[in-house]
Amino acid sequence: MSRPIFVTTALPYANGHFHIGHIMEYIQADIWVRYQRMMGHAVNFCGADDTHGAPIMIAADKAGLSPQQFVAQVAAGRKPYLDGFHISFDNWHSTDSLENHELVRQIYRALRDHPGGSLIEKRSIEQFFDPAKSMFLPDRFILGECPRCHAKDQYGDNCESCGAVYAPTELIDPYSALSGATPELRSSEHYFFRLSDPRCVAFLREWALGTDDNGKPRLQIEVANKIREWFEDRPTPDGGISRGLGDWDISRDAPYFGIEIPDAPAKYFYVWLDAPIGYLASLKNLLDKRGQDFEAYMANPLLEQYHFIGKDIVTFHTLFWPATLHFSGRKTPTNIFVHGFLTVKNGEKMSKSRATGLDPLKYLRLGMNPEWLRYYLATKLSARNEDIDFNATDFMARVNSDLIGKFINIASRSAGFLTQRFGGQLGVVSADGAALLQQLRDERASIEHLYESREFARAMREIMQLADCVNVFFDTNKPWELAKKEGQEQRLQDVCTVCIKAFRVLTCYLKPVLPVLAQKVEAFLHIAPLSCTNLGQTLPPGHTIGTYQHLMQRVDAKQLEALFVADPAFTSQTP
Ligand code: MSP
Ligand code: ZN
Repeated sequence: MSRPIFVTTALPYANGHFHIGHIMEYIQADIWVRYQRMMGHAVNFCGADDTHGAPIMIAADKAGLSPQQFVAQVAAGRKPYLDGFHISFDNWHSTDSLENHELVRQIYRALRDHPGGSLIEKRSIEQFFDPAKSMFLPDRFILGECPRCHAKDQYGDNCESCGAVYAPTELIDPYSALSGATPELRSSEHYFFRLSDPRCVAFLREWALGTDDNGKPRLQIEVANKIREWFEDRPTPDGGISRGLGDWDISRDAPYFGIEIPDAPAKYFYVWLDAPIGYLASLKNLLDKRGQDFEAYMANPLLEQYHFIGKDIVTFHTLFWPATLHFSGRKTPTNIFVHGFLTVKNGEKMSKSRATGLDPLKYLRLGMNPEWLRYYLATKLSARNEDIDFNATDFMARVNSDLIGKFINIASRSAGFLTQRFGGQLGVVSADGAALLQQLRDERASIEHLYESREFARAMREIMQLADCVNVFFDTNKPWELAKKEGQEQRLQDVCTVCIKAFRVLTCYLKPVLPVLAQKVEAFLHIAPLSCTNLGQTLPPGHTIGTYQHLMQRVDAKQLEALFVADPAFTSQTP
């Protein structure tokens, strides 16, 4: 049965180009999506730019652009990355789109006018206002002296020197990061999503800590543990007690780059309210283009919905987002798949805004094969929310020794004999070869299960173990000697046929990770695109393969050196 599946990755802030952390997330999701498509499932894989919020508005202002111009510039730079790493999004859209504006207002009205009592509440709060810029300041744009350790120039929400967490109003001698002016406390009316409402608490407990359709805990264990803390009373930094889930401030005052709140002049939705709705907006945009009905698609009870995200945005996706959907009468996500962070070489956490580590475009411009990175990351990725480290030595070993040395080698060693001696024709397979091929096929269910459950590292290990078995078969049979002996023609053709058939199966197993390589193999073997549905078919004796041509280069240490040399020509972090 073909499953309808809607998949997204987190929507990247449109304030800079992609960094390698983004690409890792897209590769993880793309491998999973390609696997699902190979299984015959109907996937819609959507992304979009997250365009709104104060930081983007301020960055645009600094660049002398309107926020719309600014984000358009960033959006225009997305394609080379996505195409370059073979990320197969069905659609890429924007949270500043017509679809999103409409969906956000619709969802907000549903929350506000909820038949069981409104989930939106207006409340006056006091906030710092920059009199020079005439705007309320986000915490990150207020600096001052830490109330605890007295370090200067600390952010409004926490001290980088002593780690204290506090409210901006506690800073000593606060000043605006935008103008330098001393901010004034002003009160303003804000809109809150009443997450503390018993209906929300009950729903979220059940959703986040409960089980999925298969009766298994829905969320990854580390994620569930973190969420559990949100439902508990906990001490606040000022010595008080915060009681369970708090209400969520979803409004911001003008000037703000965002979506206006209906019936509330000069009030905008906080970016984190409208950003996940951008998932739906991108899907709607895709379905509209295809002439499909969005609401009907979403109403399908069989529809599965998954969001791939990083560990830093878990609360938004496991609390705020399901609540937003549920209480506006919409379908909640089937699951949220949380990954850890990619660090580069030195174990340093990659900064979201700093150009550190591995520049994805530079990688491509150096002529490095995108599928090396896809494969390398696959050997590192699991379903757990763990950080993974890019290590250049390890990268070279995985690609050169395993991918090329074990896998590609099977074809390059055996194809030549078939071409030179048998006109490229496959022969008859004898019992030992058939047993080997059966062994490869027997692993299929296990490998499928590992892909389905996002255990890519384990899948890669299993596949490479199978490649080892094929190489042992090749080495034991010594085709290079068979080729010299009289009367061994048939055995030579048999052994090489087994290896080519094994190569076909392994290529199918690796195809979600190596889609372009798989295409080259399909062309070389003269076969239709490999999928889980045609893997069972076998190539008959007499099937003719093409001439082997180099399928993949080895990684050259010089390329890796060049990749990590600081190079002012590649400053892809700022548009
Ligand atoms: N705009 C928000 C997401 C809104 S979703 C409705 C955001 N954007 S982001 O550009 O900062 O991050 C986008 C995604 O990249 C997030 O899932 C984030 O966790 C992920 N990563 C950012 N840095 C990363 C690494 N170093 N490694 C892996 N993923 C990382 O958050
Ligand atoms: Zn401090």
